[in-house]
Formats: sequence, structure tokens, C-alpha cells
Amino acid sequence: MKLTTEQQEMLDGKFGEGAAYAMKIQVGIGECFDAPRMVPIKRAHVALSNQAGDLWFAEKLLKAGAKCRVAPTVNPGFCLGHFTGSCAHPVDEEDADHMRRTDAAYRGLGAVLSYNCTPYIATNVPNFGEVCAFSESSATPYANSVWGARTNRESANSALCAAVTGYVPEYGLLLDENRKGDIVVHVEADMKTAYEYHLLGMMGDKIGEGIPVFTGLPHTITPEALRNLGAELNTSGAYGMYHIVGCTPEAPTLEAALGGAKPKREVVITDKDLQDMQEEFSDKVNSSKVDFAMFGCPHFTLEEAIYIARQIEGKKLTVPMYILVSSHALQMAERMGIEEILAAAGAELISDTCPDQPCWHYLKGKVGVTESPKCAYYPRRRGIHFLIRDLDTCIEAALTGEVK
Ligand code: F3S
Repeated sequence: MKLTTEQQEMLDGKFGEGAAYAMKIQVGIGECFDAPRMVPIKRAHVALSNQAGDLWFAEKLLKAGAKCRVAPTVNPGFCLGHFTGSCAHPVDEEDADHMRRTDAAYRGLGAVLSYNCTPYIATNVPNFGEVCAFSESSATPYANSVWGARTNRESANSALCAAVTGYVPEYGLLLDENRKGDIVVHVEADMKTAYEYHLLGMMGDKIGEGIPVFTGLPHTITPEALRNLGAELNTSGAYGMYHIVGCTPEAPTLEAALGGAKPKREVVITDKDLQDMQEEFSDKVNSSKVDFAMFGCPHFTLEEAIYIARQIEGKKLTVPMYILVSSHALQMAERMGIEEILAAAGAELISDTCPDQPCWHYLKGKVGVTESPKCAYYPRRRGIHFLIRDLDTCIEAALTGEVK
């Protein structure tokens, strides 16, 4: 790979040991993919997980003196303010300490401590054609597909290296020729709400490896539905990008999305496929009773919080409802009185928090209801189980304590 003088100096340690370490990793990645050069990034998002490996890497860079040239937004861990102190189910000290160390490491590196996995909705929105380094399952396809920005499917660690050096190796989805679709997915299912996009995204097995081009979808799709599609495509498979004909910017027509080539595969998705996916992915539990409802994997928008508030205003939930949002959405909901309406009904708006975190220890052995297959997928390893239904059915289940 050909480096500029500045990049070579960074690799040689002129900008410190931390930057040299990050550059060495990126040059290694670039050489694996035959990248000819490194190109500057405008923005980055790091999918920190608040887990041991991620913390080890962040602390290693910090100890080596690394500082982000491009301040990245970061994924959620769990909200220390919410799950410690007077919390009814506080995390144990070891878990709290882990989160404090994650916070300290990323603060020291100069990250934007957003703790939100949907930065592309409000806080870190790329322009068309901008080169970025985005990790996080829903963030990479949203940046590429919806905004027309250019990012490879970075890991949390490679995105952090890019934030430190300010560069990424030029390969893959950064290049025009690799952004064309090669699988046509004819959607015949009735895509009524954002929920159906969750189920559509879970069709990775059927769609197969490549860049899907969806046909049969509306030309105007909500940000929430597009968020869900990308999140689940990277739960059921590995997709850095997709196209929706007549909707996403690089797919004005089917021919343009395919770059004039023939697709390697065509797939049809029907209502039955979506229904089967809902059944297959819900945990097999013996009862229709649920212990809690959880939404916001990926983080819910302010609009979704408002929608739920309108449905449950003046009512009392039978089981707790947790709605995970960004700190920005939480603050707006507080200012607007939405948080108060939710709290009065028994729903909690929680910022900075992911379902796959130790703060949910008290839900072990319980059964929840959610509209997100991804929300059901990760907490399974923590002994938490879920039934998956559309949002309205989930809200009704939280009101009655039962999935009807
Ligand atoms: Fe976000 Fe965590 Fe779900 S990072 S997408 S809330 S698994």
C-alpha cells in the first residue's frame, strides 16, 4: 500500500505510540484487501460493547497515548445513573466498575460519549458520498444505503483505529464497483409497519451472501423501518449495504442498482415467510403470559416513544415496559412531558443502554415481549427469553400481561 508522508510518519511513531499502533492495524487490514492507499474519513461510529475484549483494546490504545483525530460517536453499554444507586435492581460493583472503565477509556480517547446505536438518525449523520468508518449492525447499512455515504462494515476496533488515525484503507464499499447489488429480492409481503422490516431483515438465510436489491417496497419508508431492516440483515447475515428500488439514492431503477448486470440470484419474500420467521424466532415458552416488555433494539426514536405514550396514556401497565432510547430522545421526551406520561403508566424510558448488558440480571429466567428479533437474540445467552410480536400487540401485552 502506498502511504503519504504523513501516514508513513504516523506508522513510524512520529505522532505517538497509540497512533502508530492504530495505523499498523489499518495498514494490515488494507493489505489483506489489496487496498492501494489510505483515504481520510469525515466521521466514525464505534460499536463499543462494554465487554472485556473491547475494553482491553480501548485501554491499550489509551495507555499508548492515542487520541481520536475524528471524534467518533459510540454504542450503548448501560446507563450507570439508572442501574446504580437507588435503582431497585442495581448492578453488582464489578459490572458497574467495568462500565466506569469503559466510560473513562473512551472519554480519554476523545470519543463523543453518545452511547446510542442509531447515530445516523440524529447525532452523526453523514452526507452523500462521504467516507466514514461506521461499525454497528444497523449503522453501516444505513450510512451506505440510505445516506449514500461510504463505509466498510467496520468492527468496533477498526472503527476506533480509523477515528484515531483519521484514515481508512480504500477498498470494498468505498469503491463504486463494489456498491452494485447482485441479488434481487422481490418483496410480495404486506409491509404495513416498521415491524415487518424487522422480519424482512431476518431473511438473511434465504437472501444469501451479496448486496440485496429490494423491489416491491414503498418509495417512502420511515427511518425506523430502514433502521430495523439494516439491524436484522446483520443479525441474520452480514450486509454492509442494500438497495431499495425507487427509494435509496443509488437505486433510482433496478438496472442502476444492479449496475446493468444480471443478478446472481432472485428471491421472493411473502407474508408467509414473515409469519414463519416470527414463529421460528420467538422463544418456545409454555405460556402466553409475559413478565415485561422491551423496545429499543436498535434504540427507539423520540417519535416511537411518543407513539407508545399516546397508546398507554391514562392506563396502567400490568408488567414493566422498558423503552431504550438515546439521551437526546430521553431529554426531549422529558421536556415534552412524554416521559411523565410513560412513567405514570409504568413504562421506563432508559438512555445509553443495550439489552445485551449485565444490568438486566434481574430478568434472568423471565419472558418478555418485544417487536425486535435482535432484542430477542442477544439476551438469550443471559437466560432472558422473548416472544416477538408487532408493536401494537406488544403494547397490549404489557397492558394485560399476556400475548393475545
Ligand atoms: Fe443497539 Fe444493543 Fe440492540 S447496540 S441494536 S440496543 S443489541
